[in-house]
Amino acid sequence: MNNPILQVEHLHTVFDITRGFFRRKAGSVPAVSDVSFQIFPGEILGLVGESGCGKTTTGRTILRGVEPRSGRILYSPDGGNPIDIVLAESNELKAIRRDIRMIFQDPYSSLNPRMNVMEIVSEALVINRLVGNRAEIEERVADILTHVGLDPMYMRRFPHAFSGGQRQRIAIARALIVEPKIVIADEPVSALDVSIQAQILNLLRRLKNEMQLTYLFVAHNLAVVEHMCDRVAVMYLGKIVEISTTQRIFHVPKHPYTEALLGAVPIPDPKHKRKRIILKGEVADIMNLPDGCHFHPRCEYAKEICREKVPELLPVEDAGGTVHFASCHFAN
Ligand SMILES: Nc1ncnc2c1ncn2[C@@H]1O[C@H](COP(=O)(O)OP(=O)(O)OP(=O)(O)O)[C@@H](O)[C@H]1O
Ligand SMILES: [Mg+2]
Repeated sequence: MNNPILQVEHLHTVFDITRGFFRRKAGSVPAVSDVSFQIFPGEILGLVGESGCGKTTTGRTILRGVEPRSGRILYSPDGGNPIDIVLAESNELKAIRRDIRMIFQDPYSSLNPRMNVMEIVSEALVINRLVGNRAEIEERVADILTHVGLDPMYMRRFPHAFSGGQRQRIAIARALIVEPKIVIADEPVSALDVSIQAQILNLLRRLKNEMQLTYLFVAHNLAVVEHMCDRVAVMYLGKIVEISTTQRIFHVPKHPYTEALLGAVPIPDPKHKRKRIILKGEVADIMNLPDGCHFHPRCEYAKEICREKVPELLPVEDAGGTVHFASCHFAN
């Protein structure tokens, strides 16, 4: 197998919560807690989990939009020597942010309403001084707009003139104009009508192949993940609790949380029955995590050890040579 293009190792991101005029520390949110994963060139790694589990923070930390407390984020473009993004200085970081681009969930708030399409899409070209004159910029913008299925004729228009799907195409054009290597797509279709979602997903797939991209694909919707991803990492309260191929995650999940998440997916095929498990209880308060396995208060299989000892993310024995990790004391 190729070397990973991105390798996240023991990443921790903590938000300190302060209160009052003197901003006294009132607690901390371990939004990303000892997260490790690898992404290989050309693959789509899905990142799933309930709201607040740390998916967006993981993506933002990779781009140093938030500073990690500790850990390493190794980026190896073209299989070369890895650069630790955590240690990158401003010039290096600027280059990394050209190579790794983000697409956000909400195309209504992610596009500046006072900038026209041309300005929005060309911003990264201009900041990075990748093109010389205006004619050249316009040509590049027209080219990428055509690529994402928008008529370049509309490049002088402002975001309000476009539908949700079209806005997401503008956001995709903005991300791709600098020819990145990795795209972090943070719930890129959640805000869109169901009828438009498939169009945008197909577009993302086509662009991945045409531009040889690698995706970290964040999503709530498991049907979307099953359709899009090669491998899936499942997050719960800041930690990855299971990671494997999409096939294995959906057919032989090893973590009770993954099982429960899958149980919540409606399955259209009546012949294919999956035991429906209703997730018991609420997600624990992340500022007051339970001892032992963080999932144990909601787990129907929890035993004494689960209340006492945090399970490690370990290889599952019967994975038949495929990489499959789960953090459950009873994962095998
Ligand atoms: N700037 C911040 N300050 C304080 N806490 C934050 C901040 N950003 C996120 N958090 C907290 O960190 C945790 C992880 O949030 P994050 O947005 O990464 O979750 P998520 O998995 O992306 O959720 P969603 O599915 O709702 O987008 C949550 O408890 C959230 O409240
Ligand atoms: Mg999020």
